Amino acid sequence: MANNMVVKKVMWVAAMALLMCLAAARVVMAGAEEEGGGVGMVGSPDYGDALAKAILFFEGQRSGRLPANQRAKWRGDSALNDGREENVNLTGGYYDAGDNVKFGYPMSFTITLLGWSAVEYGAAAVAAAGQMGSLRAAIRWGAEWLLRAHTSATTLYTQVGDGNADHQCWERPEDMDTPRTLFKVTRDSPGSEAAAEASAALAAAYLALRDDDAGDRAFSTRLLTASRSLFDFANNYRGSFQSSCPFYCSYSGFQDELLWAAAWLYKATRDANYLDFLTNNQGSSNPVNEFSWDNKYAGAQMLAAQEYLGGRTQLARYKDNLDSFVCALMPNSGNVQIRTTPGGLLFTRDSVNLQYTTTATLVLSIYSKVLKSSGSGGVRCSATTFSANQISSFAASQVDYILGKNPMGMSYMVGFSGKYPRRIHHRGASVPSIKVLSRKVTCNEGFSSWFPTSDPNPNIHVGAIVGGPDGNDQFSDNRGDSSHSEPATYINAAFVGACAAAMGQKQVVKLEEPVDNLASMVTAY
Ligand SMILES: *[C@@H]1O[C@H](CO)[C@@H](O)[C@H](O)[C@H]1NC(C)=O
Repeated sequence: MANNMVVKKVMWVAAMALLMCLAAARVVMAGAEEEGGGVGMVGSPDYGDALAKAILFFEGQRSGRLPANQRAKWRGDSALNDGREENVNLTGGYYDAGDNVKFGYPMSFTITLLGWSAVEYGAAAVAAAGQMGSLRAAIRWGAEWLLRAHTSATTLYTQVGDGNADHQCWERPEDMDTPRTLFKVTRDSPGSEAAAEASAALAAAYLALRDDDAGDRAFSTRLLTASRSLFDFANNYRGSFQSSCPFYCSYSGFQDELLWAAAWLYKATRDANYLDFLTNNQGSSNPVNEFSWDNKYAGAQMLAAQEYLGGRTQLARYKDNLDSFVCALMPNSGNVQIRTTPGGLLFTRDSVNLQYTTTATLVLSIYSKVLKSSGSGGVRCSATTFSANQISSFAASQVDYILGKNPMGMSYMVGFSGKYPRRIHHRGASVPSIKVLSRKVTCNEGFSSWFPTSDPNPNIHVGAIVGGPDGNDQFSDNRGDSSHSEPATYINAAFVGACAAAMGQKQVVKLEEPVDNLASMVTAY
């Protein structure tokens, strides 16, 4: 073994680096305890704390009857009659953002992203942070709703609530009295984007939940059966989903969701029909520069590239397209399409920008992990070739920015570090909790008394990540500014995986106990 000396030397260097890393981590942890889970401008953020809070956020978005182990105590039961007018039980699920509508299309995307985070990082970082149970609960809460919404082979309920009426009120979910209008897609009025995304969500949820220690095999089997059924519905009755417009209009069409769902189903079942679908329809895949609730191509390309690198060489086009996505995002690639702010944040557009940052970061993180494990080198762009480590470092820099390493020194996650948004655009968080102010707060009273004040929100919606700063790294923490101050489920869902990836990469893994200051952040009533 001629290389023995070299190997030993590398191992020694690696061991020293690990020791230094652990020492640094301890310093960061000590600092974090004083600051309340935060991050200074030096060192790494406390990723375990951020991960726990990112998942806790979903409890604050819950609709329906809350369980006894609910930790976001400022919330109460809500919308207990959803679906009743059509004799369907559509209670449960998640409110989408700062409003009280249940939009099934982005809710499905949220579940797919949470499932993906669990599949890629569950066994390592998420488990090390003690958060796998919470993550599974968050996935299951949404997946149960999707199962109930798929009432026949060709029916999927896609929305509860009237977006316009809801937005004309500023009410807590616990006492809202706006119409709980039902929307569905059927064989006569199809919506392939919504049905295929729900299919993807349930396949991802199946993969995330099937090995649960609780071992609910019957439940995970139902997830997979429904996922297959929804794919067939989306594929056999093709039509574009526009009924959640103008809030969630599909611009990218449904081909992306069909590919994305097929890729998830292939991952979940290894059924050759789904591989054939990916192979035969790859002509509809093209390079993109964003990944969002509307545009899933980059996600499908990531899953298919993983199969390509695993030997399914007929899927080469997806890998090429994914490389283009990387080149469109990585600074100095020579092919950049998405700029970074002076402070280093990927900036797609000045409206809920962090949704694009977190989803891109998740894809970059997973791709770098897959490149490393397949030993396939880096990504070549016109000006340079990026190694897997360069890609994952850039991804981690986005997580760090969101958690406070930015020109404003602001964490864009509520309840993380000492400086975070206090006036998020969120009805439930900005009106006192029903546990404190038990009388009804009406539609207009919310708008006159609670929406316009410059006071901080009475409820700290721990873990909520807002739309984020503008293109010059500025943020005004203004409740009226929904583009920058509103959280959304899909921002947090993508962040869960991105944060877990950063945590694994930096080796700052917190073991045993759940998070130190989480208990103190969860207000008890
Ligand atoms: C709806 O489903 C939930 C969850 O399974 C259940 O707890 C609730 O009792 C059901 N509601 C009705 C009205 O059947």
